[in-house]
Amino acid sequence: MTTIRQLDAPSKQLEDIHTRCFDYGWSEGVFADLLIKPHHRTYVFETDGEIVSFVVMTVVAGEGEILTIATDPDFQKQGLARMLLDQVIKTLKAEGAELLFLEVAIDNPAALRLYEACGFKKTGRRKAYYSRKDKPPVDAHILRLAL
Ligand SMILES: CC(C)(COP(=O)(O)OP(=O)(O)OC[C@H]1O[C@@H](n2cnc3c(N)ncnc32)[C@H](O)[C@@H]1OP(=O)(O)O)[C@@H](O)C(=O)NCCC(=O)NCCS
Repeated sequence: MTTIRQLDAPSKQLEDIHTRCFDYGWSEGVFADLLIKPHHRTYVFETDGEIVSFVVMTVVAGEGEILTIATDPDFQKQGLARMLLDQVIKTLKAEGAELLFLEVAIDNPAALRLYEACGFKKTGRRKAYYSRKDKPPVDAHILRLAL
C-alpha cells in the first residue's frame, strides 16, 4: 500500500535515503531539528510502511521553499517524486499559497526535468552554491512556480 503524508515524528529512513542521494547527506538530527522548527514541513511517500521518497520544505506568508527532496535510489524513476510534488503543490494551493521556490544544481538534469515537468521556471542563478566531493562547487538555478 502507498501513502503520502506529513511526517510528525523523526525517522532514520530520511538520513539513510539522503546520504545515499547526496555527496553531503543530512544526519537524522538535522531532519529531527527541522521537523520541530516553525514553518517547516516534511512530506513522505511510503510503500508498505517504508519511507521511499520525501520532501522537506518551509511555508511562510504564502511562499513555499523546497529545502530538499530525494527518492531512495532503489525506487527512483517510478514517478514517486512527481506524485509527492503534485500533492505538495495541491496542498499549498488549497491553503492559498502563491509561490513555490527551490534551488537545483546545474549538473542535476534529472531533478531539473522533474521540476520543469511540474511547471517550475528558471528565475535566477547562485554561483558556486553546492559543494562537491572531489570537484569544484557548482552553481544552482533558482526555480519558481506560480501556484
Ligand atoms: C530527482 C529525484 C528526486 C527524482 O525522483 P524520482 O522519484 O526518481 O522521480 P520521478 O520518477 O517522479 O520522475 C519524474 C520526472 O523527473 C525526471 N527524471 C527523474 N529521474 C530522471 C533521470 N534519472 N533522468 C532524467 N529524468 C529524470 C523525468 O522527467 C521524470 O518524468 P518521466 O519519467 O515522465 O520522464 C531523484 O532522482 C533523486 O532522489 N535524486 C537524488 C537527490 C536529488 O538530486 N534531489 C534533488 C535536489 S534539487
